[in-house]
Amino acid sequence: MLTPIVSNAQNVLIKPEIEKQIDDLLSRMTLEEKVGQLNQHSGSWDVTGPIPEDNEYVAERARLLKNGGVGSLLNVTGAEATYAAQKLAVENSRLGIPLLFGFDVIHGYKTIFPIPLGEAASWDLDMIRKSARTAAIEASAAGINWTFAPMVDVGRDPRWGRVMEGAGEDPYLGSQVGLARMRGFQGNDLSEVNTILATAKHLAGYGFSEGGRDYNTVDFSRRTLHNIVLPPFKTLAENGLATVMNSFNDLNGIPASGDRYLQTTLLKEKWGFNGFIVSDWGSIRQMINHGYSKDLEQSALHAITSGNDMDMESEAYQRHLVDLVESGEVDVAVLDESVRRILRTKFLLGLFDDPYKYSDPEREEKLVYSDEHRTIARDVAKRSIVLLKNEKNILPLSKEISSIAVVGHLAADKDAPLGNWRGRGEPNSAVSLLEGIKAAVSNNTKVNYTEGYTLAANNGSFAFALEYPEDDGSGFEAAIENAKNSDVVVMAVGEEALQSGEGRSLVDISLKGRQLELFKLIREVNENIVVVLMAGRPMIEPELYEGASTILNTWHLGTEAGNAIADVLFGDYNPSGKLPMSIPRAIGQIPVYYNHVSPGRPQTGPGDDGAVFWSHYNDEVNSPQFVFGYGLSYTDFEYSNFELSKNLMNMDETITARVDVTNTGEVPGEEVVQLYIRDHFASSMRPVKELKGFEKVLINAGETKTITFKLDKKTFEFYAADGTWKTEPGMFSIMVGTNSNDVQTLELNIER
Ligand code: BGC
Repeated sequence: MLTPIVSNAQNVLIKPEIEKQIDDLLSRMTLEEKVGQLNQHSGSWDVTGPIPEDNEYVAERARLLKNGGVGSLLNVTGAEATYAAQKLAVENSRLGIPLLFGFDVIHGYKTIFPIPLGEAASWDLDMIRKSARTAAIEASAAGINWTFAPMVDVGRDPRWGRVMEGAGEDPYLGSQVGLARMRGFQGNDLSEVNTILATAKHLAGYGFSEGGRDYNTVDFSRRTLHNIVLPPFKTLAENGLATVMNSFNDLNGIPASGDRYLQTTLLKEKWGFNGFIVSDWGSIRQMINHGYSKDLEQSALHAITSGNDMDMESEAYQRHLVDLVESGEVDVAVLDESVRRILRTKFLLGLFDDPYKYSDPEREEKLVYSDEHRTIARDVAKRSIVLLKNEKNILPLSKEISSIAVVGHLAADKDAPLGNWRGRGEPNSAVSLLEGIKAAVSNNTKVNYTEGYTLAANNGSFAFALEYPEDDGSGFEAAIENAKNSDVVVMAVGEEALQSGEGRSLVDISLKGRQLELFKLIREVNENIVVVLMAGRPMIEPELYEGASTILNTWHLGTEAGNAIADVLFGDYNPSGKLPMSIPRAIGQIPVYYNHVSPGRPQTGPGDDGAVFWSHYNDEVNSPQFVFGYGLSYTDFEYSNFELSKNLMNMDETITARVDVTNTGEVPGEEVVQLYIRDHFASSMRPVKELKGFEKVLINAGETKTITFKLDKKTFEFYAADGTWKTEPGMFSIMVGTNSNDVQTLELNIER
């Protein structure tokens, strides 16, 4: 028997008057009604029409809805459909408890923003928050009051297709981006009609799936768990996060949905999380496949007693929880605690006052996909682009240029830029690169498009893998001819929308088909090629990265992709994005990430001169193709006068690091000034570099700005081998710079 959890720390979501109402409601609920609140089902029928009597599955779910047997629906969207479903529940069930409507609003509802990995590349927390805010405004007008975002899984393996959904490889950046997104979704007050519950997912370690294969097991140290994987969850949980989703993987042999340490000991008890935990889709049931429970009943027992509050699509609670409570295996107080957490969010949203508040066709009509939202999407998208190379200063292009050859299937593709997890984004609704270019150039500019290579047909279905039909090269000649006759070539390469995302792991993350081959042929006839790389993950293609003089990494940028890329191509916007994830040189380097610890035989020591017995590969260098934090601008920034307010810091002091950054070029530009630390020796090894601060600033040509960072005990804190968080005295390096490699360093001593 387990006792209920009483959160002890932050009470952001606790309001005494609401807790009283919950007490009252709980006292009136039957056991069945309580269990009902814990069930979440996917709405796969049209509730606006009659429910087909002959469909057992559908009929059973409708019955459940009417009996108060469902706490939440997912994937039912639109003002009308959510209204109808809500009505079924509220008007028919005994207590009329309203439903939560959950949906994967991952990077926009219908106006699609850059994939989260791309958005993280902006390092622009205000814009990231605004993007989530806009998505929440749209989703909440379409009946949604809960999004399953942000995904805050730190990812070091680009083979894992879901890196597109996260903020990359760093826990600090990941925490800041996650927080900005959470605040955007949840706003300042959940009872407002345009705010929705956010979800931090997936607790925990899902980004470390072995071999980058989705749903695979994970195996990493306690040190990695606490220092790398958990910080974003903790940051959000301590700042008013409403819900958490657990993950498909196990950790140390315990599937996450049954992990009491993660869900209860840490999240609920230690961090004081007062929202609720939803399982991932079917993950409670999957404990049987994991070999952790013998049947669905035991899965239900594991899940509820470990702290998993809501069951998404396993039907484990629905089928077994009443019996488990009646038999005394689960204390009713444990059940009550989970119900309380779910009801709490419903009260906070104001659903008991008006269950239909989110289902307003007029607002939906007015707000969803509005011009204003598209303008914001363009703004966010252009800030997410990373300029990887501009060796010959081909960029920015003049709008008066006489001819541009636009080459590549992806350049005219109106679907790929939407990326995976595109909410209710209409297929083929993005502004293509070709359209963006055409809209930007002068009337005198000839824009000639040739497809060149072919790519997988995007069948628009989430359920099936993409197929790559053989490219017979029949488009090559026209593309080469086009390139030959044009001043400049803009060639789009990369991935289709569904090449990355859930279930889209790859062993080969180079360009598919014959894209590289065509690039090389075109380069022979016209050296002025701008490569526009569109992808949901870092891609490995050294020949492209080394062979092209000019490369823009544009991810999948969403609805306004083509316009945003054109903004950068023609200099209306000076690129400012920085990589949130290293781009490897070779698949065999994975995982390659900047914040690694030092081996006992680091290659960057005395053995760097070709000697064998240092940590290295015999056939490749250790460094990635492009490092974390890397990205260029059309101007140059010079760092000078880097100073610490003190070189000897007392443990309880706050000191400052300051640096002057001068824009030495001709045009205004934004720089992401990054601050890293290194703890040189500690009771448990520390990374060679750790991001601890950044600031994105706009600096005019010729102007100098001083950037200041505050450093205190917290900056240097880490989870040590003895299981405690501590800052240890000793020698540290403080580094500032334009990326994780190119830094200036000062020494700091910390004393007790
Ligand atoms: C994913 C979750 C998602 C859920 C609901 C699962 O397969 O792992 O991230 O929120 O489906 O669509």
